[in-house]
Amino acid sequence: MDAATVRPAQSDLEQAFRRDVLGGLSRGRKAIPARWFYDRAGSELFERITALPEYYPTRTEIGILRVCAPDVARRAGEGRVVIEFGAGSATKTPLLLDRIDARAYVPIDISGAFLRDSCRTLAERFPALQIFPVEADFMHPVCLPAKVPGDHRLGFFPGSTIGNMEHEPAIGLLRAMRETLGDDGMLLIGMDRIKDPLVLEQAYDDSAGVTAQFNLNLIRRINRELDGTMPVDAFRHKAVWNAPCARIEMYLEARRDINFEVSGQHFTMDAGETIHTENSHKYDEASAGRILRAGGWEPVETYGDADGLFMVILARAASGQEG
Ligand code: AVJ
Repeated sequence: MDAATVRPAQSDLEQAFRRDVLGGLSRGRKAIPARWFYDRAGSELFERITALPEYYPTRTEIGILRVCAPDVARRAGEGRVVIEFGAGSATKTPLLLDRIDARAYVPIDISGAFLRDSCRTLAERFPALQIFPVEADFMHPVCLPAKVPGDHRLGFFPGSTIGNMEHEPAIGLLRAMRETLGDDGMLLIGMDRIKDPLVLEQAYDDSAGVTAQFNLNLIRRINRELDGTMPVDAFRHKAVWNAPCARIEMYLEARRDINFEVSGQHFTMDAGETIHTENSHKYDEASAGRILRAGGWEPVETYGDADGLFMVILARAASGQEG
């Protein structure tokens, strides 16, 4: 950086964003991690995605949770501390808390603002419930406040969020959760199913173009936050099913040769060149069981919908495995 340039102190998050974008654009195959989609505009666009006719996961998972919650409550027993990973707006949480006799609720999220909003809503709906919000990155074992009872915990990880991760990091996350939830822990996790590629591709490239806007917002965010000059209109949204890897991949493809700057660094892209922005892994019962077991979990029950679109799996901590 120019020695004469004085920049205001940057938050850790801003620095991490800059590092991921500059690093990702410098690679031979350009890629930016999907976690950076979710600024305010991106979170709002994702909310709109969840209501699209083509985007079946959210409404399907909600339907499954409505039906399976009493069985989950029965198998989990009374007095569990419910720990939600990446609670976000916590819209699915009441479906579980309505049925389960929870001793306390611990939402973990990296965004403090989201946490405070969702806690307020939940506290109104469940006035007797103790809530201990934790602002943390749940990718690492989380140190919970001492007042949270230590045993008898139930993890809740809906939304197929795990689908964003490749297998090794996904297993690492499951192990970290196993450590956080303890030997007596259980985990209720949502996973999207492998299905007709056309259904999948339409879910990630809807006719109203909301998913395209969600993808393109990453470029707008880079321009806003990292002094970018990326021409938004020069990029096209692409969603493709990668069968061998069982995942939907999203890309931003250059429509023409372009050059631009980000944070004072110069980049060029040839027409047709892409930036890989997201993986969304899909599972069947066998592959889901494999990563759960590798992460220290034993599946207890798989709940699904009539059309076989989505699954919610209840698992218990496998014995004889340390974190
Ligand atoms: C929030 C990661 C579950 O993979 O379906 C939706 C994100 N991306 N449309 C998914 C997403 C494009 C979503 N997850």
